[in-house]
Amino acid sequence: MSQGLVTASYIVAAVLFIMSLAGLSKQESAKAGNWYGVAGMAIALLATIFNPEVTGLGWIIVAMAIGGAIGVRFALKVEMTEMPELIAILHSFVGLAAVFVGYNTYIDHGDLAGAMLNIHNTEIFLGVFIGAVTFTGSIVAFGKLRGLVSSKPLTLPHRHKLNLLAVVVSAILLIWFVQVEGSTFALLVMTLIALAFGWHLVASIGGADMPVVISMLNSYSGWAAAAAGFMLSNDLLIVTGALVGSSGAILSYIMCRAMNRSFISVIAGGFGSDGTVSSGEEEDGEYTEVNAEDVAEMLKNSSSVIITPGYGMAVAQAQYPVAELVSRLRAAGVKVRFGIHPVAGRLPGHMNVLLAEAKVPYDVVLEMDEINDDFDDTDTVLVIGANDTVNPAASEDPASPIAGMPVLEVWKAQQVVVFKRSMNTGYAGVQNPLFFRENSVMLFGDAKDSVDNILRAL
Ligand code: TAP
Repeated sequence: MSQGLVTASYIVAAVLFIMSLAGLSKQESAKAGNWYGVAGMAIALLATIFNPEVTGLGWIIVAMAIGGAIGVRFALKVEMTEMPELIAILHSFVGLAAVFVGYNTYIDHGDLAGAMLNIHNTEIFLGVFIGAVTFTGSIVAFGKLRGLVSSKPLTLPHRHKLNLLAVVVSAILLIWFVQVEGSTFALLVMTLIALAFGWHLVASIGGADMPVVISMLNSYSGWAAAAAGFMLSNDLLIVTGALVGSSGAILSYIMCRAMNRSFISVIAGGFGSDGTVSSGEEEDGEYTEVNAEDVAEMLKNSSSVIITPGYGMAVAQAQYPVAELVSRLRAAGVKVRFGIHPVAGRLPGHMNVLLAEAKVPYDVVLEMDEINDDFDDTDTVLVIGANDTVNPAASEDPASPIAGMPVLEVWKAQQVVVFKRSMNTGYAGVQNPLFFRENSVMLFGDAKDSVDNILRAL
């Protein structure tokens, strides 16, 4: 393949990546967006391995076959609810790759001198720094999502000063690294600091802020890839990394706005929270339990119903009977709509994907802001496997770990039915006063079984 053809292929791939991002921003075009991404990546891979400068093609193909087989196996095995964990671990690979590329480029930097060498060394230093932060940060995020590490924020004494110190010392080491034209000691010390810094940044963020952390690590991994692109002088990697980095940053910003969090606070590792939060684990009184027949009766007497799904609906795979329930109620003349919280489930758009899978019409699926004012006029709300996203403590208890996060105000409806298996807390580990309200009732059991039972009773 000639160098000109490689460059042309890179441009086509970059355009396909941009079209992919545009497609993924709407449900209707998301599938096409995915295919653009796949096509762009295939072209990018082919152009890279058949680049005339590439040697050792045999080794590359063996590595790709092994990596591809592992990737296919995991992609087939992974449950939708485990996607964020997979994304977090993949981000850690991008970070680690940037560190390796950095060290490789450091060892083999060719015959650069003067200003070019200084620029090159700065690229190496920053690439390794961002890569190392992304690597350990993503591993901690994986641990938190998997339940291997506590989802509670780690609040070390003087943690903000520690973060600041890590950044300042790394900046001094950068100057040293550039001035002595590549001090191995400075690079090694900075790598250790960056690994600890990445770990601490994510460990000090609480469970409810994890969605922002994931999109933030997405952004970091993009910048790590862009840094690797600079080191390898690969334009496509720079463009792709910048696309991922900036789209991840925009997503983090949107998530922060949706959750009423300060962007700077979250990226600075929980900066702004003093760590004195109420545990919220204690129960708040009596609750009322009902069975599926009672709920079927309530639905028969309702003229408007809102369903607020959450992570439990995904675990139970209850979207199919829920879709059936919706069409039965609509056929009986009941006004049924869905209220979707921006961080319901475990990944952005999780609930929308599940409902689309079950062929729920898009026009009855509304965002939180579109539906929050309508709960007052609603007869029955079905909270199916949601917990943190419908917790009134967010707006009523300033000491709550989720204080300030906008939630679906389900408690304003005439009656609320909560579908879950026990009185356990949600992801943020905070007890939910909704369960003890006079107008709330609990329907215990797996969400899919509960909805199936209601369908039988209707
Ligand atoms: P959660 O607060 O996680 O609560 C889910 C509830 O579902 C639990 O209380 C659980 O109670 C119930 N449940 C689990 N399995 C069930 C089953 N088979 N049948 C019935 N119920 C079941 O859910 P949410 O309201 O969707 O909130 C999402 C949380 O995850 C937020 O804190 C958010 O910040 C965090 N988070 C979100 C994301 C993104 S991007 N969306 C990423 C990471 C973290 P039982 O155990 O009693 O059944």
